[in-house]
Amino acid sequence: MDGNGRWAKRRGLPRTEGHKAGVDAFERVCECAADLGVPYLTFYAFSTENWRRSPEEVSAIMELFRRQLREGERRQAENEEKRWRIRYIGDLEEGGPVPDDILALLRDMEEKSSFREETVVSIAVNYGGQQEILRAARRLAALVQKGQLAPEDISERDIEDGLYTAGQPMPDLIIRPSGELRLSNFLLWQSAYAELWFSDILWPDFTERDLDRALEDFALRQRRFGDIEA
Ligand code: IPE
Ligand code: MG
Repeated sequence: MDGNGRWAKRRGLPRTEGHKAGVDAFERVCECAADLGVPYLTFYAFSTENWRRSPEEVSAIMELFRRQLREGERRQAENEEKRWRIRYIGDLEEGGPVPDDILALLRDMEEKSSFREETVVSIAVNYGGQQEILRAARRLAALVQKGQLAPEDISERDIEDGLYTAGQPMPDLIIRPSGELRLSNFLLWQSAYAELWFSDILWPDFTERDLDRALEDFALRQRRFGDIEA
């Protein structure tokens, strides 16, 4: 979800307003994808590198997470909850940089939405693809050190089991808005054979039509996974 700041700047608004509009786009895309029966959606909300931003911007974004999570709680209490299951991926250990009250709210949200299986929405918070692979490597190294695993027996599957996305299929399509042509540390292992779709649209402007366009383009792609054309 990129381009919130530029969206706000173009309107002469503070960057925070762009992040708020970005939350609306997130809801819009979740609704649309759930209608279309997309089984897994993963959003990059906050990276391990985003902490480099000004303290004002970081705390405004954290405050938005809080608001969004409390709104989710309210919906739950009033039986107006959304249809999708929510999962959070990233380094969300206690004692890390994400405030403890947010960690508690997001664990609660995961638990309360866990019975909904139709569409799984994963939200990456304090997420970095390299850090995710490093974490999986450390876990395997610990098993090797304990003599429970031989280095030559380590498989791709073992690494995948140590990723935050363990148990989920690899992404078929990665959408990057806002004109940047890079992955920016997103799902590095998982994206090995993902189709990439780039657009100049700033995330807050992203609509159902853009999702349709991305899916239409995706449907025309020939996926060979290293094989040759049949
Ligand atoms: C994405 O929008 C939101 C986050 C990374 C939290 P940006 O804030 O990166 O917006 P631009 O790229 O400055 O326009
Ligand atoms: Mg950006």
